[in-house]
Amino acid sequence: MERIVIINFGAQYNQLIARRIREAGVYSELLPPDAPIERVKGEGLSGIILSGGPDSCYLPGSRTCSDELFSLGVPVLGICYGMQLMCQKFGAKVGPAPVREYGKTFVRFKPNVLFKDMPDSICWMSHNDAVSEVPAGFELIAETDDCPVGAVCCGEKGLYAVQFHPEVRHTEYCAQFFHNFVYEICRCKGGWSIENLAGELIEEIRKKVGSSKVVAGLSGGVDSSVAATLVHRAIGDQLTCIFVDHGLLRLGEAEEVMDYYRNEIGLNVIEVDAKERFLSKLAGVVEPERKRKIIGEEFIRVFEDEAKKVGADYLLQGTIYPDVIESGTGGAQVIKSHHNVGGLPEDIAFKGLIEPLRILFKDEVRLLGESLGMPAPLVWRQPFPGPGLAIRVMGDITEEKLDILRKSDFILRDEIKKAGLERAIWQYFTVFTGVRSVGVMGDCRTYDTAIAVRAVTSTDAMTVEFAEIPYDILRRISNRIIAETPGVNRVVFDITDKPPGTIEWE
Ligand code: XMP
Repeated sequence: MERIVIINFGAQYNQLIARRIREAGVYSELLPPDAPIERVKGEGLSGIILSGGPDSCYLPGSRTCSDELFSLGVPVLGICYGMQLMCQKFGAKVGPAPVREYGKTFVRFKPNVLFKDMPDSICWMSHNDAVSEVPAGFELIAETDDCPVGAVCCGEKGLYAVQFHPEVRHTEYCAQFFHNFVYEICRCKGGWSIENLAGELIEEIRKKVGSSKVVAGLSGGVDSSVAATLVHRAIGDQLTCIFVDHGLLRLGEAEEVMDYYRNEIGLNVIEVDAKERFLSKLAGVVEPERKRKIIGEEFIRVFEDEAKKVGADYLLQGTIYPDVIESGTGGAQVIKSHHNVGGLPEDIAFKGLIEPLRILFKDEVRLLGESLGMPAPLVWRQPFPGPGLAIRVMGDITEEKLDILRKSDFILRDEIKKAGLERAIWQYFTVFTGVRSVGVMGDCRTYDTAIAVRAVTSTDAMTVEFAEIPYDILRRISNRIIAETPGVNRVVFDITDKPPGTIEWE
């Protein structure tokens, strides 16, 4: 298999580089800067990318990489910090940029194979430092008004470096850029695709599991559902799934997903009613990270109890690639503790873990689900967080608040469905804000709860924009929520992108 390795220097969006390369048809993975050189070389190495990152390469303690990377006989591309580091290693000066560039910036390209079929155009810039001279033996291949050394290359050694971020969609020719690097420079043949991957994954699972039993936690979400379907395809009824109803699900959710699991996919599922267990542990808890920790812990305990009864040797996890990256391939900062990563207690006795999706991004997981013939509504369900509605109720969680949240959320989903916007919007839900305000309904004063509508578009949840839902639909949503949800007298629309916000409120 052809492989492009990305050395991850810690920028929040480095995984987008891997996505763009996979979209171009070549497998790509991120490795930390201190990964052993043998791991980098591995099988089928076709190229290396040095990623962006928050450090200044001229300061002590900044992340660096082995010089050996430049002599492995494959092309190396530096992006932003990766460019600065490469240029510094080849003798150029790097320092604070006289003018910092941030955002959409017009870049002028010189004729070069890296920019084949790319006219001068808008690229995304985000840098405080800059390379101030072209390293000896390199040539200048791009510039902007404020960044005279915008890209350099030494074609003979296969070294290329750009100051802008080609991985971000705001860079107009982002797909063409990676196509050029992968096919024109690394000379890959391509052909990596999700459809081809399914058969390989199923074979791998069969080999690993043999005649042992596997247990899986199902959440109703895409990742665990696709993982279970894949493993079921591989080993049939040797797989037992456990679905925990923690009392923090949306209206009708448990019934809906259980119907898909049992009747459409034919999974062997145990449904555990753990509402009381979770809600009593959460009573009075206000702080978001505390809520997450309690839920994570309780999930494991319920799961452990059930898994013991099954007597399984392996545990199936729906871990996907962003989870793997966020839990440490190069030190991007942890923003929230996702409940399913690194939360397993050591005393849970399994021979091993099965994580068949750990190299895939969310949209790749969906494509895999489709290629396995899973029901579309399950594959295309909007993501729903493990901690469920707990992180959509601000403040302490009560049945009354959950009830208001469920009703309002159901109305929102219903209206989005009627408007045919389900697939266009990445996630849409309501938030119990905990704010009370004064209103007037039927000539009487009210002093009730404000519900927020959150709706975002995205391709991977890493960056999002608030969804531009037409005003008439918003008005219908607002009117219906207030009319049909006692206790609510105001609806607000959250117009925060990510960054600076996150998708969930907690
Ligand atoms: P944020 O709020 O960090 O969310 O922008 C990014 C995506 O992750 C989902 N999310 C979670 N999913 N366990 C999960 O399985 C969690 O603890 C968790 N927290 C957030 C969120 O819904 C969005 O899709």
